[in-house]
Amino acid sequence: MPAISIDSAQRRVCLNTRDPAFYRDPLAAYAEIHAHCPSFYWVERQQWYFAGYEQVNVLLRDRRFGRQILHVATREELGMPAPKPHLADFDALEAYSLLELEPPAHTRLRTLVNRAFVSRQIEQLKPDIEQLSHALIDGFEMDDGVELLQAYAETIPVTIIARMLGIPVEAASDLLDWSHRMVRMYVFNPSYETELDANEASAEFAAYLRGIIAEKRRAPADDLLTHMITSEKDGERLSEAELVSTTALLLNAGHEATVHQIGNAVKTILQSGLSAKDLFATEATTELTVEECLRFAAPLHIFQRYALSDVELEEGISLRKGDKIGLLLGAANVDPKKFSDPNTFRPTRDEGANVSFGAGLHFCIGAPLARLELKLSLPILFQRLPNMRLKAEPEVKDAFHFHGLERLDLAW
Ligand code: HEM
Repeated sequence: MPAISIDSAQRRVCLNTRDPAFYRDPLAAYAEIHAHCPSFYWVERQQWYFAGYEQVNVLLRDRRFGRQILHVATREELGMPAPKPHLADFDALEAYSLLELEPPAHTRLRTLVNRAFVSRQIEQLKPDIEQLSHALIDGFEMDDGVELLQAYAETIPVTIIARMLGIPVEAASDLLDWSHRMVRMYVFNPSYETELDANEASAEFAAYLRGIIAEKRRAPADDLLTHMITSEKDGERLSEAELVSTTALLLNAGHEATVHQIGNAVKTILQSGLSAKDLFATEATTELTVEECLRFAAPLHIFQRYALSDVELEEGISLRKGDKIGLLLGAANVDPKKFSDPNTFRPTRDEGANVSFGAGLHFCIGAPLARLELKLSLPILFQRLPNMRLKAEPEVKDAFHFHGLERLDLAW
């Protein structure tokens, strides 16, 4: 159990996210938080956080909050520091991405991209994902073990999203490298070296994407990137900056979370002692198993929002325009008010949706794709390697925002 101190009367929590006992098993700390004060002021992080299922679900949809603030206020007004010059390329790549925009810019961009991600379109990728999963397993099943994240979990999502966008699959290792270097920025207080490195990766990534976009303009193809280049909404097309930002987001979001969800799911199932044969017996049990993995072992635990105006929340929580709040998706998924015996992995439960993909305006556009990748890659893996077991207790990453494994060594 991590060192957590809770002052219920004042709703103040002290908890160090770098404490291995916390990041290895955040659910234990969440149970304490649910028991004492699901809305709390996190002392180390100096802002309010929300852990209850109902609260998180409602706040994600609450239009008084947004992922962005500079569309309604200036930095000076908010007393925000000036942008860091050594992060200019990183900021430019983020600035026009779907995830960082609010309506009306968000609506326009999301509508253009959405068509490719509706379930009907995504279902067509099924043979591709199955074939790829089998081909990867063919590559290591004759060995006596494997490091699954690199050999399997990482390759499937990046290959599929690159193919969808129409980006050469040979670029996968560069894409992974850029993405890993960029997502290190999402830790709490990244170091100067992390910032420099993320900025350099962003510059290389953007230059690469601009080249690919120019090629697609010359020779349009039947892929998502061409669709984004040529689509118009109300007579407007996406700008070069929007195209670059959104493609980078799709490539990064398109695999970082799914990799860790595959890893977390395999670990959870192997440690549960439950029979994989039963878990994946039918399409219905597979679906329940995947949803329970998403609930119990979610890869993304926290997202932030800005108050877009002064807001009074539940009694005693007054926010000023520009204040940030933290929404603990990972904790909402184990709220005992919503899920019975929440810290137990029980794939037969049918107690309603988890919030692992968020909710509201920014609800994960890739959810149908991620779900399909999980529903195919997990059963195929367990069917092909029925004697698969953990070689050792896997080490969990020292990162709160990305709950995933350092590596996943398996033997059979
Ligand atoms: C298990 C895998 C995944 C998880 C748990 C996940 C989770 C999330 C969450 C929680 C959000 C909302 C963030 C917020 O509200 O601030 C989000 C947004 C987003 N996700 Fe995912 N995601 C996954 C896979 C994917 C995939 C495969 C793609 C794309 C191919 C993708 C693309 C996006 C995009 C573009 C957004 C921004 C949507 C918007 O702002 O309108 N994600 N994701």
